[in-house]
Amino acid sequence: MSATITEQPVKIQVSTKSVSTFKDTPGVDVKKTASVPNEVIEARSKTLFLNTHGDWRDDLVRDGYAVIKGAFSKEHAKKYQQEAFKWLKSFNNEKLDLENPETWTRENLPPVRADINVYSSYGVNHEKFLWDARMEPGVLEIFEKLWGTDQLLASFDGLNITLPNRKDQSRKSPWPHFDQSPFKGGLHCVQGILSFSEQGPNDGGLVVYRGTHKLFNEFFATQVRREDWDEFNYYEVSQEQLKWFMDRGCEEVKVNCEPGDVVIWDSRTCHWGMEPTEKSNVIRTVLYSCFTPAEFATDEALDRKKEIFEKWLGTTHWPHTDLVATSNHIPGQFDRTEPLTKPELSDKLLKLTGAKRY
Ligand SMILES: [Fe+2]
Repeated sequence: MSATITEQPVKIQVSTKSVSTFKDTPGVDVKKTASVPNEVIEARSKTLFLNTHGDWRDDLVRDGYAVIKGAFSKEHAKKYQQEAFKWLKSFNNEKLDLENPETWTRENLPPVRADINVYSSYGVNHEKFLWDARMEPGVLEIFEKLWGTDQLLASFDGLNITLPNRKDQSRKSPWPHFDQSPFKGGLHCVQGILSFSEQGPNDGGLVVYRGTHKLFNEFFATQVRREDWDEFNYYEVSQEQLKWFMDRGCEEVKVNCEPGDVVIWDSRTCHWGMEPTEKSNVIRTVLYSCFTPAEFATDEALDRKKEIFEKWLGTTHWPHTDLVATSNHIPGQFDRTEPLTKPELSDKLLKLTGAKRY
């Protein structure tokens, strides 16, 4: 069921929650760059929203998310997962055995930022196998179709490896959130998950609230005090606020998919990452990956992206703004500042990184 914009009068400014954002995370260096004006983005996304496409784009427009089946082969997906496992065991942590859950402990694993099972340090964002996945023709085609251009920038997102039922780590509670600032009204960003593993109902995976993207502007205008609006692209939603969406027809959906599938969602769609239930024995392995038109980036942003890429650092899912450099300098056993296997610096790759202009 799709949500519709309500025409009933609504109470103004009920939220008094404090806003915590990624920019407050220790070890994270955020440099803001100028945002592209809303009008430029609106013009670009008009074609997407005003037409019927007869494919997954209709799902994205209607529901705020879509699953593209078999965007790359299962064989490649399995290979990327094996590479990810090899990488996880490449820190002289020979006690780690992915067949033996007893060894899935903090001391055997590289530290993960914010305990959301996403590796975004140690140069992993730029490992050759992850660039191979990002540059799968079927992956690039999705975003080319979406934005109507092949001149794209890639995000330097992290790798999620979720070991189910860790004994030394409690299950993270839901953290429904938007990944877009209320100051950005239209479709500015579509996020993606490249799936290297099965993600069934009990496995870790994305949870979305279908239809919330259509209520995004109304929600902030009426339910969040203006002084709580943040230019940073993150806003966590309380249970009470979530109810506001559910009362207007939005639905919670756990998105299931298979190796080789790509899940995409509008950054105005409320979502969070679910941990596996106790019934799961799947090691969820996915690469977050997002592309936006290079024309969305200012010269300053492109210079910043180049700088981040040349240091082999990671960013958030935003390819053209909010350029956040994750810290690589974690002293000790897990310290590493470069990818184990660097990608081939082809013309295409350099343009996707912003290191070379289109
Ligand atoms: Fe998110």
